[in-house]
Amino acid sequence: MPDVNQILNERFASAFEKALGSEHANADPILRPSGNPKFGDYQSNCAMGLAKKVGQKPRDLAQQVVDAIELDDVCSKLEIAGPGFINLHLRESFLNDQMNALAADDRLGVDAADPQTVVIDYSSPNVAKEMHVGHLRSTIIGDAIARVLSFLGHNVIRQNHLGDWGTQFGMLIEYLNDSGWDQSVDHSISDLDQLYRDARARFNSEDEFAERSRKRVVALQGGDVETIRLWQMLIEESQRHFGEVYLKLGVLLVDEDVCGESFYNDMLPAVVDDLDAAGQLKTSDGAAVVYPEGFFDQDKNPLGMIVRKSDGGYLYATTDLAAARHRINNLGAGRVVYVTDARQGQHHFPQLFQALRQVGWAPDAVALDHVPFGMVCGKDGKPFATREGKTVKLTELIDEAVERAGTIIEQKNPELPESDRADIANAIGVGAMKYADLSSDRIKNYVFDWERMLSFDGNTAPYLQNAYVRTRGIFRRGEFDPNEVRSKPIMIDEPAEKMLALKLMQYADAVRLVGETLEPHKLCNYLYELASLFHSFFENCPVLKAGSDELRDSRLALCELVGRTLRHGLGLLGIKAVGRM
Ligand code: ARG
Repeated sequence: MPDVNQILNERFASAFEKALGSEHANADPILRPSGNPKFGDYQSNCAMGLAKKVGQKPRDLAQQVVDAIELDDVCSKLEIAGPGFINLHLRESFLNDQMNALAADDRLGVDAADPQTVVIDYSSPNVAKEMHVGHLRSTIIGDAIARVLSFLGHNVIRQNHLGDWGTQFGMLIEYLNDSGWDQSVDHSISDLDQLYRDARARFNSEDEFAERSRKRVVALQGGDVETIRLWQMLIEESQRHFGEVYLKLGVLLVDEDVCGESFYNDMLPAVVDDLDAAGQLKTSDGAAVVYPEGFFDQDKNPLGMIVRKSDGGYLYATTDLAAARHRINNLGAGRVVYVTDARQGQHHFPQLFQALRQVGWAPDAVALDHVPFGMVCGKDGKPFATREGKTVKLTELIDEAVERAGTIIEQKNPELPESDRADIANAIGVGAMKYADLSSDRIKNYVFDWERMLSFDGNTAPYLQNAYVRTRGIFRRGEFDPNEVRSKPIMIDEPAEKMLALKLMQYADAVRLVGETLEPHKLCNYLYELASLFHSFFENCPVLKAGSDELRDSRLALCELVGRTLRHGLGLLGIKAVGRM
């Protein structure tokens, strides 16, 4: 369905053409919801920029646009204000039509985009190490982006770029072998970080062990059958740990999404050869180096990206070059999205993207996006860690979230049926964690704070989930069926209803914006505003006790629409809405 933005944009385009000539038809009307009813419902800020271009006074130009524009069916009034703002007052009938169209639309006004194949590289933890909070962020943010882009109609291919290769596997395998690990019935490792530390300690203190470990690396690289078997066991065991986190978080990632670094091993020699053939390779101290244009070190010398060390070993960057080529050529990616911490955005990804462009492996038509995020900090502002300074185990962290949520709902609503409690605590605890992460501007560090994320007030998941519960509660109390109400005509009447309606009309825009900017907090902000407007509607406009049956049904239909929008929006963030809490 055409939403208000599309309609207004089209009408402005025709008006620009009529008033100023076809060369201005594509000018940006710079439209936004005005936020304050005094200035209308929407405001166009186009006149100042356009006036400069055509050499007129902004107010005169605004008048010409207003004279030329055809908006009788949409607006009741157009005003020119201040230096040349055009304030648009929407017609009640238009609002009602929009509301009824939304109520009838399962996609809530969000049309599918031109489909693109989008590869999203996210989570990507490292084998034989615990996933840390950085991977948690990547997992949560990447998952929300995957959901939004899928909903927008894109063909999303999730890629879990597991760090499953490297020289550290020599010592890990030797260590496990000495302990008879693979012979034992139970192959589980309770603490991956401990394993890593113990193996490292032996490597550092015992020469004989270190020597064996080095040989093991060579055996691994040479494809020695027994070594590969042990390495695979280690990967499986690590994946079991990661899978546990994914399951608890309820993210989309499954085993089939894993395409680890080792997958690209065979392609690495060709990466270097092809770079060479393309004239992009230089040798420096025996290492093979690419120089992405525009990168310099502190002394203003070109900053290279090593793709093969002098000992013949390949690097993280080489694997990423191979992976990008594979994603574009074999998976058909039109867009590749990498979700990692911001530090990898300092050099790694900008250099990688530039290298891919200049060697021609990523044509201009393929978008390459790094989606960086800041660190997770404790309330003290330091990197998030346990009291002993250790990395936090994610499964324990998620369990704690659910436990805390359980305690809170027990206090708030002792009447909840026992059978529903676990599910509700899970939805609220996990939701709170995810939302705390997603709702802050991702590039900034965010503070992990249990009280705040689990609070029922403010921009939190429980606040939104609670608003959803309210939209459902009214149907329970009045014994109405939300699905039946959906077809009842909505008639916007009170100011609080109008504000709510205007917000509902902007859902499509909020979702599209996340698809473009890959910034989930924009959807969070939208949902928070929607929930707040719903609360004030609820306080100001009686629903079950409305003056007439028609008005009651209209308001019920509005509740249904708000509820569905909240549930849908939370769903795009990977957060569950519950019917009661
Ligand atoms: N394993 C890496 C890490 O833990 C993240 C990988 C991100 N993806 C990529 N294609 N480089 O930092």
